[in-house]
Amino acid sequence: MILMDIYDTASWWTLVIAVQVVIGTVYFLWQRKSNKEPEDKLTKKKLMEWKPLPLVERDYEVDEPPLMEKIDEKVLNVGATSFLCLDKEPTIMENAIKSLHKYGVGSCGPRGFYGTIDVHLELEERLANFMQVEETCVYSYGFSTIASAIPAYAKKPDIVFADEKVWFAIQKGLDASRSTIRYFKHNDMNDLEHLLEEATAKKELNPKRRAFLIAEAIYFNTGKMCPLRKLVELARRFKLRIILDESLTIGVIGKRGRGLTEHLNVPRDEIDLIVGSLEHSFATIGGFCAGTHFVVEHQRLSGLGYCFSASLPPMLTQAAISALDILEKNPSIINELNENSKKLNIALTKLKHYTFSGEELSPVKHIYLKNSELSDDLKQSYLKNITNYCLEKGIAMTVAAYLRDAEVNCPEPSIRLASSRKLNDTNITQICSLLDEAYEKVGPGSEFKTFSD
Ligand SMILES: *[C@@H]1O[C@H](CO)[C@@H](O)[C@H](O)[C@H]1NC(C)=O
Ligand SMILES: *[C@@H]1O[C@H](CO)[C@@H](O)[C@H](O)[C@H]1NC(C)=O
Ligand SMILES: *[C@@H]1O[C@H](CO)[C@@H](O)[C@H](O)[C@H]1NC(C)=O
Repeated sequence: MILMDIYDTASWWTLVIAVQVVIGTVYFLWQRKSNKEPEDKLTKKKLMEWKPLPLVERDYEVDEPPLMEKIDEKVLNVGATSFLCLDKEPTIMENAIKSLHKYGVGSCGPRGFYGTIDVHLELEERLANFMQVEETCVYSYGFSTIASAIPAYAKKPDIVFADEKVWFAIQKGLDASRSTIRYFKHNDMNDLEHLLEEATAKKELNPKRRAFLIAEAIYFNTGKMCPLRKLVELARRFKLRIILDESLTIGVIGKRGRGLTEHLNVPRDEIDLIVGSLEHSFATIGGFCAGTHFVVEHQRLSGLGYCFSASLPPMLTQAAISALDILEKNPSIINELNENSKKLNIALTKLKHYTFSGEELSPVKHIYLKNSELSDDLKQSYLKNITNYCLEKGIAMTVAAYLRDAEVNCPEPSIRLASSRKLNDTNITQICSLLDEAYEKVGPGSEFKTFSD
């Protein structure tokens, strides 16, 4: 009896399994068939009818007038980032014009293909001396400097740790590298350390791939300074290469204007690659990378923006050399700028209707509306109206522009103020009182006012 029972139970289970297998197979075949059908329909019937996706997803609203009129000389411009005010310096203009007569307007060739002229070599050597590094290479466009430098080293198998608020050119460089990217919270060294430990535990940091750390000395999107010493310490501990974007600090901070490494007394060779800009303090265009010969030389073939762009026009190269002459002869202009940046910082803390982000020595300050409950679009619109109002009253400012959908971590709408050497106490007071006045006239404060009037 017991044997029979066991036999019966076993065959019963065999039956259950067999039925399941049959059902499973039928279902699988049926699925394959039903999956195939729409494909067939698409290829046969719809191939000639379907519409391709639109080339541009949606219309970008461009709220700048297509042609900016030249800003009146009498207007105080705190939108442009000519921190050292060398853009109208007579000696620079004269030397640039001389260069124009000597070489013509453009170089019409990339550096490696008949585009190198003596002034390029001179500028690179002068910048290397100024930065106290072995070598520099000059790019003809600021944005493409770091956007090309990153993918010249970081490749698909590599891993990059970057601050979440890095500016757009760095983000685009990271995209082009196709590396694994880990963004850490803005200037949050605990978060970075945590990510690095996590990556170590997961063996994501290993001898088979390069690892990078990317930061800005002063962040264009927040005006904050990075904690460079801590970054260097972490980079050494976890064996990362550091790429430091000093676009807003070279010619701006440090006793002789050599940037954050000089300011914090961090040896230059602790940083694997320093990236600078010629578009702010040096009052021309282009950018450069500074480091050892071994590292910089690599970009002359691997930096796409270097290798395949026509070289910087000689007259603009000359302008950078002449700006460097001034900076090296009169390092005190750095001090004048720093004093104004500090004063502006103090004045901004007294704003009634705004908060701001920036640092004593930062030449860039971001002004935010205090009304945090408004939507970003509305804030943007108010800020735009506020800057228009200020321009009418004689001070030009700019609302920070972002491609909202394309930014990794889009910053809050803000007005970006640029400090400069030409500001004085009167101007700084004017900037702040005008901002508050504008808020009451055309900002979120205006509605309140119209109702009570
Ligand atoms: C800056 O201040 C000076 C002197 O106080 C003043 O003459 C000048 O008009 C100010 N500039 C602007 C644009 O307000
Ligand atoms: C900004 O100004 C424009 C034109 O005067 C107006 O249409 C718009 O409503 C203003 N924006 C806000 C948020 O008030
Ligand atoms: C501010 O600068 C202007 C020139 O731009 C000068 O005329 C004026 O005396 C300065 N004012 C102060 C308070 O330093």
